[in-house]
Amino acid sequence: MSLLLAMTSWHVEDWRARFQALLPDMPVVVLGEPFDRRAVHYVASWKHPAGSLTGLPNLAAIFSLGAGVDFLFADDKLPPVPIARVVDPDLTTRMSEYVVLHCLMYLRQQHRYISQQQQKLWEDDRNQPAARSVRVGIMGLGELGQDAARKLQAVGFDVAGWSRSPKTIDGLPTFAGEDGMKAFLARTDILVCLVPLTPDTRGIINAELIAGLARDGRLGGPFVINAGRGGLQVEADILAALETGALKGETLDVFETEPLPVESPLWAQPNVTITPHNAAMSEPEAIASLIAAQIRRLEAGEPLQHVVDPARGY
Ligand code: NDP
Ligand code: OXD
Repeated sequence: MSLLLAMTSWHVEDWRARFQALLPDMPVVVLGEPFDRRAVHYVASWKHPAGSLTGLPNLAAIFSLGAGVDFLFADDKLPPVPIARVVDPDLTTRMSEYVVLHCLMYLRQQHRYISQQQQKLWEDDRNQPAARSVRVGIMGLGELGQDAARKLQAVGFDVAGWSRSPKTIDGLPTFAGEDGMKAFLARTDILVCLVPLTPDTRGIINAELIAGLARDGRLGGPFVINAGRGGLQVEADILAALETGALKGETLDVFETEPLPVESPLWAQPNVTITPHNAAMSEPEAIASLIAAQIRRLEAGEPLQHVVDPARGY
């Protein structure tokens, strides 16, 4: 019985070593190297090449090495076995750090001061709104969205959230579905996008959404932070909105095409902050431990945790 690591764009050796230490009795094999396909009971995947998980007759479960699973559902030859994703405090904490950091960058006009420093400019317009007067709207109130909301509230921001199904969360105003979208956007100065990429959410950050954001806030115009997936955003609409001033700034960790091509106009847009899809990286120590524990559960006849629903796509 073996575990197959099927990943692109990450260093497989870090993962192999970690998994092998955690599962000493289970051979850990790697896609691209010779291995016995009949022996594979588990797959741990991050963006495996589509179609490469066929012909594994004893496969019992697939583990996403990240929180997102859109890359799995994009493989139309994916074997029909249960899929579990990452839900882990290490990853969640990393995402909340990212969200809080970038909301604070906008609150405290830090992009402006970095630019002023480069020009040796001492300039202060005495405009310093308090966090409590800045409204942050979080799209996606799952594992990541709810943790980010709590941490933004701890800093003092006026936070609300939006999700697919209605929610009651102590101390957090919530909105749901298409019906709740307009009112949610109308009270949002900084929009944080943490929804999964599904057929329903593809392209959701578009000109219409941007037009619905608040324009009466203390930051002088709306900002968007997308750390969900690149497929959620229409980059042409974002660029147009930044050029007309409909959007004051945008922080992007994810892109329609990754790595972001050198010819993308986003690189040169002064009001865009770019990070290379590492808002919440999967750290091998933490995530291999989570998956090894899941494998031990299955081997002990216990149910798998954090199973995704193929019908919902997340
Ligand atoms: P969860 O599945 O826990 O939460 C998803 C949230 O999005 C839920 O609140 C869900 O609503 C909401 N949602 C889904 N579809 C819709 C829709 N059509 N309309 C409105 N709301 C919707 O996911 P996580 O919080 O764990 O992760 C979110 C995403 O973050 C991942 O899918 C991944 O793409 C991205 N991510 C990015 C990382 C990075 O480094 N950039 C790292 C980790 C994750 P409901 O509650 O009603 O189900
Ligand atoms: C994830 C990611 O989904 O890193 O975990 O994007």
